[in-house]
Amino acid sequence: MATRTVLITGASSGIGEALAQEWAEQFQNDLIILAARKTDALEQIKKQILARLPAKIEVQKLDLEQPKSIVDFVQVLTAENHIPDLVIHNAGLSQRSLAKETSIDVDRRLMEVNYFGTVYLTKLLLPHFLKRKQGQIAVVTSLVGKFGSSMRSGYAGSKHALHGFFDSLRAELAAELGPDAVPITMICPGFIRTNISVSALTKDGSTQNTMDSGTGGGMEPRECARRMIAAIQARKYEATVGGKETLGVLLKRFLPGLFTRMIYKAKVT
Ligand SMILES: NC(=O)c1ccc[n+]([C@@H]2O[C@H](COP(=O)([O-])OP(=O)(O)OC[C@H]3O[C@@H](n4cnc5c(N)ncnc54)[C@H](OP(=O)(O)O)[C@@H]3O)[C@@H](O)[C@H]2O)c1
Repeated sequence: MATRTVLITGASSGIGEALAQEWAEQFQNDLIILAARKTDALEQIKKQILARLPAKIEVQKLDLEQPKSIVDFVQVLTAENHIPDLVIHNAGLSQRSLAKETSIDVDRRLMEVNYFGTVYLTKLLLPHFLKRKQGQIAVVTSLVGKFGSSMRSGYAGSKHALHGFFDSLRAELAAELGPDAVPITMICPGFIRTNISVSALTKDGSTQNTMDSGTGGGMEPRECARRMIAAIQARKYEATVGGKETLGVLLKRFLPGLFTRMIYKAKVT
């Protein structure tokens, strides 16, 4: 297989870190660019990978909440001739608070990081994909990008919005370049054992700082990463990853009344 440049956002922990480890293991010729705010953590992950594999890894700072950081990031990629062949939009921020109590600033921050940051980065990479007439995009959303649940209103909104944006973009790119030129895979994880609930925002914007039981009992990030990579390689339009909670997507589609009543009763954490 030809050597690719693969960009993984949110690679400093959890699923992104696991994706970096797995990608380096499976595709040793690819150049992997690890991006996030915590470059020390990224450097550490790079070091760990290079200690056991002959991988090619670059580290770049990226803050999706700051448009200038996104512009600077793409400028560096362009200058270094590292525009990715594949971008895995994985970075994200979650929420644990009731809608009625949550400051609108928290909703805006979730949209800024999860939605606008991802969309802006995509828009800056798109001209390169269009010029090359090829590229590949994967977007890590969530099961709550497919259905809402308690304590996640702003997070669910931001993840639903990603589905709307990228489904539309997929149609536009297929019309302009043909259906296979820029595959877009939407990946919806369920419970994965990472720090997502620890760093989740609460009603006033402070972080929750505790691990939820659902997340703590979730799938191992490396297993999640392997399944995500399989979906990306198969160029699937959409994939769910997780345990039995992923059945919620099918239940909502085929038995929406039953599913809605089940969501009412779901434990609020
Ligand atoms: N774990 C789950 O159960 C679960 C379920 C559904 C969906 N997901 C999704 O999976 C993705 C990865 O999350 P995770 O579970 O691996 O959680 P995580 O361990 O908290 O990782 C989140 C990553 O996002 C990055 N990030 C956060 N804010 C950022 C910003 N402003 N700019 C750039 N990067 C930022 C973080 O890096 P820095 O702090 O270094 O910037 C970190 O690398 C997220 O999109 C999340 O919504 C997770």
